[in-house]
Amino acid sequence: MQIRLFKPCVGEEELANIREVFERAWLGLGPRVAQFEKEWSEYIGAKTSVAVNSATAALHLSLLAFGFQPGKKVLVPAISFVSTATAALYNQLEPVFVDIDPDTLSLSLEDVERKMTPDTVAVLPVHMGGHPVPMERLMEIGRQHRLAVIEDCAHCAGGIYKGKKLGTWGDIGCFSFEEKKCMTTGDGGMISSNRAELIEPLRAYRWLGIDKDTWRRSAGYTSPEAIDARHWYYEVGVLGYKYNMNDLMAAIGLAQLKKLDRMNARRRAIIQRYLEGIKDCRQIRPLFPYKLEDSAYWIFGVRCEKRDDLILHLKKKGIATSVHYLPIPMHPLFRKYSAETPVANRVWQTMLTVPLFPDLTDGEVDYVVEALREYDRR
Ligand SMILES: Cc1ncc(COP(=O)(O)O)c(C=O)c1O
Repeated sequence: MQIRLFKPCVGEEELANIREVFERAWLGLGPRVAQFEKEWSEYIGAKTSVAVNSATAALHLSLLAFGFQPGKKVLVPAISFVSTATAALYNQLEPVFVDIDPDTLSLSLEDVERKMTPDTVAVLPVHMGGHPVPMERLMEIGRQHRLAVIEDCAHCAGGIYKGKKLGTWGDIGCFSFEEKKCMTTGDGGMISSNRAELIEPLRAYRWLGIDKDTWRRSAGYTSPEAIDARHWYYEVGVLGYKYNMNDLMAAIGLAQLKKLDRMNARRRAIIQRYLEGIKDCRQIRPLFPYKLEDSAYWIFGVRCEKRDDLILHLKKKGIATSVHYLPIPMHPLFRKYSAETPVANRVWQTMLTVPLFPDLTDGEVDYVVEALREYDRR
């Protein structure tokens, strides 16, 4: 048997929406993007959202929204995908790496306090693998130190913490719809906030700084009522980026959004089956203290002291694995920002991600469980 690690759950609903976009023959930034932003905002309970081409772009623009002076410091967990830290560099800000909590693998709130300086302007909590950061406590710290709080929700689209959707606790929430994530638009991302004044200006920044969307302008190109010959006119007021989502992506996103709760529920059922299957193991433990009620976990992972041996064992059985993630300061680009992160430096060596996606069958889960148990019996 060959079992892959992640697999997008796409089919007829997405194809029907793509067909509709083809028939209208407007594939770029257009009405489907606006509709997706509206439906997404309603779904997560945010005032407004700006759709972009990735969470990387979302994180970059979210920090830009605050207009921080270059050289200021941004707290970033030592274990995350690099985009959480590159967002600081794109804005000429300095990433300060915070150690992780040994149980939840998210940033340690104690270390957040320790690493705080008068130059610290923002914190980027990552809900690692979908496991929520204790946001009520982080928001309190943020308030005390006047920090911007930007939630990196790349792993937890649809997740709820203490009755409130993740991504609506902080000033801004950033989501990833890259192909492996909880839901997908191929590649794609979303910036959501209840502070509309903060993120509305990002519409121009995602579209090269242009002050009007082309599809809105184009309505006047052939309209005889629009007697003004300047229907084509736009201005570039800020240095923007080509970060927009397009209607093809949004069409996929609209179909995926309808299925998101169902896909998250199936992931929860699979995790439950994994947890049950490995509960008696001595060498293999669950990666997170999984709390399944309202969650949107993207990763099922385990911890094992001899992690690389286990990877080889699973590989021989055709089971794909990965490691999420090498601590960011270990990448050459970030070495010069290394900080005291002893827990991250130790724990990442035991972390292993195993297959999780909605179409994974119970039989496949049992096959992975049996392989894990076989290793554990050694
Ligand atoms: C925690 C985290 N943040 C940001 C990103 C970037 O997402 P995207 O691929 O949509 O740019 C990822 C991607 O894996 C991620 O895992």
